Parts: sequence; C-alpha cells; structure tokens
Amino acid sequence: MIGVFDSGSGGLTVLEALHRALPDRDFLYFGDHARAPYGVRDAQEVDAFTREAVVSLINAGCRLIVLACNTAAAVALRPLQQTWLPYNAPDVRVLGVHVPLVEAITRCDWNTSVPIKRAEEKKRTVAVFATPRTVETGSFVTEITSRSPHITVLQQACPGLAGAIEAGASLQEIDSLVAGYVDELMSQEGAQEIDSAALACTHYPFAYDQFRTALPPHVDVLTQPLMVAAALEDYLRRRPECDQPGNGTLTLLTSGDPTRLNGIIKRLPPAFQNFKQINPGLAPV
Ligand code: DGL
Repeated sequence: MIGVFDSGSGGLTVLEALHRALPDRDFLYFGDHARAPYGVRDAQEVDAFTREAVVSLINAGCRLIVLACNTAAAVALRPLQQTWLPYNAPDVRVLGVHVPLVEAITRCDWNTSVPIKRAEEKKRTVAVFATPRTVETGSFVTEITSRSPHITVLQQACPGLAGAIEAGASLQEIDSLVAGYVDELMSQEGAQEIDSAALACTHYPFAYDQFRTALPPHVDVLTQPLMVAAALEDYLRRRPECDQPGNGTLTLLTSGDPTRLNGIIKRLPPAFQNFKQINPGLAPV
C-alpha cells in the first residue's frame, strides 16, 4: 500500500494522477484537515505533524509514502530521511513532490551532485508560487540554483490561498487572491524575464485556471500531479523492491469532519471524496 499525505485536500490532485498512472496499486491517503493549512504554521509544528502522519501511515502498513505537500516536504523530509527513518523504519521510503518539479525546471536528475554546465544554457527566470513556510525554507531556490546556476528563482508566497481553497472559497475570491499574488510577483525585480511559473503547493492545481488567466500568456504554468505520477512510475520500475502489487483500492482518511469537507473535492471523481474520519494514530473514530 502506498501512503499519500497532505495537510488537507491538496494532495488529492496528486493522488488522482497517481491512481490513474498506477491503477492496480493500493493507496492510503491521509489529509490532516483538522490542522490545515500547514503553510502558515511554524516549522516545528509542520515537522511534528508530518512525522506523526508518517508514523501513522507506517503503522497502517505503508512501506512507501509520498509527501504530497510541498510545505511538509520542504520542512520535514530531509530530517526524516537523514535522522529518523534510518533508525526507526529503515525499510520505509518517503518521497517528496518537490523532487520531480525541481527536475522538470532544471532538466537535471535529482541526484546530480555538481551543477550542470551546459554551454548552450541561456539565463532563465522561473517563478515559484508556494506557501509562506515553503518560501521561508528557501528550498526551491537552493535545489534549483545548486543544479542550474543559470536559473534565477523568484519566489511568491500566497499566504491565504491554500486556506481559501480548503475553506471552499468562491471562484471570485480565488480569482482575486490569485490576481493579487500574480501582481505582487510581477512587481518583483526581474519578473518581466519569467518564462515559467511553478505551482509549488498541491492545493494550487485547483486554482490552475486562475493562475493561467492572471499570468502573461507566454509563461509556462507548471503543476505537479502528472510529473509526480510519472516520477513514481519510474521509481517503482527502478526499485521493484519498494513496489507492492495491490487491487487498485483507494482509502481516504481525514483528521477532520468528513461531512464538512468543502466543495472543491467535488471536482474530483466520487472515489476521491469518500473520506473516513480518524484520530491521530489512524484509529477510526
Ligand atoms: N498542499 C500543501 C503544499 O503543497 C500545503 C498547503 C497548506 O496546508 O498550507 O504546500
């Protein structure tokens, strides 16, 4: 069973793509709706909540876990991989959704240890829209520029967006929030040079149309779900020992009240709306 974790409903955008790409694997999704959004929380909280979720998914039988939350991945993935998993769950792999996005932007393999110097590479400018916590870690700037020093990264925090999407804000509210963040980005120095904009929060694909409309037409808008699905397929091909055949089941768990999950998830097929409530520790309520 493959575990998929997000602070709330954003990771469903990734889960849907994973299920399409790997229809016979079993997925267990956990959305920590009761404590979403994470992006405005401090790093210690995000770290602690993410670790709790990972432990719960491991206890539920997951040996491979995808952090379908950029905020959780930016704050908690490295410490988990370096200091927690090796001692507590050495046979478990935890992957982050930021990796395929960084690979797509840099056109470099994640494991590239030295910056790639390609004579033909032109200077580029890429925008990254993310939560305030992700922006504060600077992880996208570090991961992109350490591989591709010719890329300038302009980060734009969107403090209210994931929360508004979780809360079921109207399309007009989402339109005006996104337009405001795009305006802020475009007022940053060098913004006229942007060729691509990465939606580096798994909630933002729900606002893809608004970003597409607000950004200049020549800017390529990059989203994670299909990239992550392709990367996971590739990972399982390369690491068959991490693969577990299944029956294509989808189990959705939430720490929140399933009857109060908002309308945004109605955009997804019914199988992605059928949440059961659990206590922390994944015990059914
Ligand atoms: N969907 C998450 C992300 O990718 C978290 C958003 C939030 O909870 O603030 O960053």
